[in-house]
Amino acid sequence: MVDQMTFVDKVTRKHLLIGGEWIEAKEYSILRSPYSGEVIAEIPLATEAEVDQAIEAAREAKKVMAKMPAHQRAKILETLAQLLEVRAEEAAQIISIESAKPITTAKGEVARTIETYKFAAEEAKRIHGETISLDAAQGGENRLGYTVREPIGIIGAITPFNFPMNLVSHKVGPAIAAGNTIVLKPAGQTPLSSFFIAELLQEAGLPAGALNVVTGSGRIVGDKLVTDPRVSMITFTGSPGVGIGIRNKAGLKRVTLELGSNAAVIVDKGVDIDKIIARCVTGAFSNQGQVCISLQRIYAHEEIYDSFIEKFIEATKRLTIGDPLDPKTDVSALISSNDVERTLNWIEEAKQGGANIATGGKAEGNILHPTVILNADTRLKVSCQEVFAPIVLINKVQSIEEAIDFVNDSNYGLQAGIYTDNVHTALDAAENLHVGGVLINDIPTFRVDNMPYGGVKESGTGREGLKYAVEEMTEMKLVVWNRN
Ligand code: SIN
Repeated sequence: MVDQMTFVDKVTRKHLLIGGEWIEAKEYSILRSPYSGEVIAEIPLATEAEVDQAIEAAREAKKVMAKMPAHQRAKILETLAQLLEVRAEEAAQIISIESAKPITTAKGEVARTIETYKFAAEEAKRIHGETISLDAAQGGENRLGYTVREPIGIIGAITPFNFPMNLVSHKVGPAIAAGNTIVLKPAGQTPLSSFFIAELLQEAGLPAGALNVVTGSGRIVGDKLVTDPRVSMITFTGSPGVGIGIRNKAGLKRVTLELGSNAAVIVDKGVDIDKIIARCVTGAFSNQGQVCISLQRIYAHEEIYDSFIEKFIEATKRLTIGDPLDPKTDVSALISSNDVERTLNWIEEAKQGGANIATGGKAEGNILHPTVILNADTRLKVSCQEVFAPIVLINKVQSIEEAIDFVNDSNYGLQAGIYTDNVHTALDAAENLHVGGVLINDIPTFRVDNMPYGGVKESGTGREGLKYAVEEMTEMKLVVWNRN
């Protein structure tokens, strides 16, 4: 096994960040590596009173952040990006150890996080409103109207385990850019990345109370953030079940939800299969499939189906499974043994339902072997629910219209892809796929951090991507001058 000791030695007991101070909690839980089961840290379990203090600290810091000039907010974010560049190797190790993300992918996540904070710094400098032609309405003559965008206030950010650094940056970055304060509840399985970023933000000069980090149970920390009237907005990435619960409890708070999906790609006849296999395999198995836009369903035209499945299965069998810290590893452990058990049950259900497990379908420890399933019925859990595991389905279709119907026959709608050489087919797909983003000649797993990202149906509401998140995290105010 690759040596984890340097990092483990440094990470012992973590504390809550409240009002700029690292506060010892009353209770702690043990954090273990999902891959090896080794203890890697002790994590504070915040009480309701401690979450209350964190919200109060964010409230006290509100004025400072709202009055801070844009160039200063941008400077803090730029400095954070520079500090992270210097400590990129350590950051990747933290991600890899706490989440079992293969180290090469973890390095990619750190590079993206740096870029996300740089984008946030740029957005801080271009927050603006517009002038309104009030005289277009009768009675509006001789008035000047314009809008400004003001910080929304305190943002409760609840983040998932699968991108513990970059999905935090998608909430913390735009929140700071827009002049808000934050109470962050990182995922219980992967809080170390957030503690690390919080330390760097302190070093970058973020005022005390502008970012507070409280770990603990969803029932205590999450519920308090969602229901406390001082918090103006909740931004959440996670499962639809939790997201819908948040929306139901949040009252009039603004809520952005980035939820799951069973993302699909369509492969048309005539496409050069050799050019797309490696990309599709990456889309299906990167980070063990624990990505909201992981490629879960492939609809291949009958004319290329046989050659597609042969090449895809061959490439899948070549993937290296193992220790996340080994640079050769492609696929490592799922986040928990419960997820291994759940996915094995779903695979068994698929088998019983007449699907063919072409490769994989078994586990070693917490590693589920990359699994390819053929001829799966749409009602099977592996098809209609989000698997969040290294499992992909390949089904044969007779036409692109049929494939589009299959893709749309889902409770989710985050992103979908289509490979085709026919521009008319591509345009039809862009128009008819009911999702937040359509990728032409790419997998649905494509994401760069400045693009609008979000879904329809149970995939969520609102958009991330820095410019769009800043819009969500600001309130529009209208100013009208009467010259009469
Ligand atoms: C997600 O899982 O929603 C994030 C995907 C990404 O940022 O690449």
